[in-house]
Amino acid sequence: MDTRGVFISLEGIDGSGKSTLARSLVDALAQKHQVLGLREPGGTVISEKIREMLLDVRNDGIIGKAEAMLYAAARCQLVEEVIRPGLDRGTIIIADRYLDSTVAYQGYGRGLDLGFLEDLNRLCTGGLKPDLTLLLDLDPQEALLRRSEEIPDRLEQEGLAFQIRIREGYLDLWDKEPERIKRLDATHSPEFLLQEALLLVEKLLAE
Ligand code: TMP
Repeated sequence: MDTRGVFISLEGIDGSGKSTLARSLVDALAQKHQVLGLREPGGTVISEKIREMLLDVRNDGIIGKAEAMLYAAARCQLVEEVIRPGLDRGTIIIADRYLDSTVAYQGYGRGLDLGFLEDLNRLCTGGLKPDLTLLLDLDPQEALLRRSEEIPDRLEQEGLAFQIRIREGYLDLWDKEPERIKRLDATHSPEFLLQEALLLVEKLLAE
């Protein structure tokens, strides 16, 4: 790692509880450490504008490759403006989604070429990968039930089959990079998940 801080991302299908865990993890770590919580796409003025465009249900004409490049543009801005400077200051960065989302959603979900997405990810991040990724794994049917009261955004509107492919993608990524990606069973309570996450983070910080 070429920086002094620690970079942790949270991943999972929509409704997996990842954002809740990200928030409680930031709160818990902030008691002892310098922590910054971010979401993707988002986290800078420009990236939040790109997020609006990406999630707006009226933008149903965005083609897959353009979608991938918009996520990459938002990420590029976030890495340069916030993540790298934060890591240089020694901050713990907690990102609610990062590059695995592009592989899972645009690759496995939309069917875009994985090689193209890997190149795109490398270009937009300069090769910056998280030190630890927490994958909240949940059955897509269960996740859909959890979201039944919410108004779906453009990606969430894609339905169950889309989420099933994305989950497969995440599990493949976990299989390929078990050192970096740790799977958490998202059927557990938020309190239990926080304790599990904290154990993994403390272990990383001790290394
Ligand atoms: P969120 O609802 O978890 O904040 O994420 C926004 C949506 O964008 C979610 O449905 C996942 C999707 N997404 C992608 O399709 N590709 C990406 O690279 C990222 C970061 C998110």
